[in-house]
Amino acid sequence: MTAALCPGSFDPPTNGHIDVIRRVSGSFDRVVVAVIANPSKDPLFTSEERVALLERAMPELSHLEVFGFSGLLVDFAREHGTDVIIKGLRAASDFDYEMQMAQMNQGLTGVDTFFVPTNPKWSFLSSSLVREVARLGGSVDPFVPEVVAAALKEKLS
Ligand code: PNS
Repeated sequence: MTAALCPGSFDPPTNGHIDVIRRVSGSFDRVVVAVIANPSKDPLFTSEERVALLERAMPELSHLEVFGFSGLLVDFAREHGTDVIIKGLRAASDFDYEMQMAQMNQGLTGVDTFFVPTNPKWSFLSSSLVREVARLGGSVDPFVPEVVAAALKEKLS
């Protein structure tokens, strides 16, 4: 039984996040998504809303489990019996920070991080850009799942 842990802020989930989770899902028996409750900035969506958006964006993944979490990621990994952390890399600019976190997590409990290259179609995409475009009245429909686009419209209306 192998279990992957896909952590993030997901404020909101984008097509880039969903693409990485779907692609790795075929290689693991369980895919656990961990939504950090309080990212450094005030989130637009509550933790519960982000969990629900992720569940609704990938209804076809029967082995998907989505949870909110706070505290150390490595503690969450241990509590949920996951084997590896999965992180998407969009570009070289992501690398230094992601590498630092991966090495810290490895140093803390020995848990390894597997990096997955983002589909180049989504390499420019970030949750913060999606929030900004949506706040300023632009259409983010091409960049997020339908449920997220609808939730953004409702939240910002
Ligand atoms: O969406 P993000 O910003 O890439 O997610 C970052 C996240 C949530 C994976 C990271 O901030 C995290 O793991 N936070 C939990 C606290 C923790 O374990 N800190 C030490 C990491 S080395």
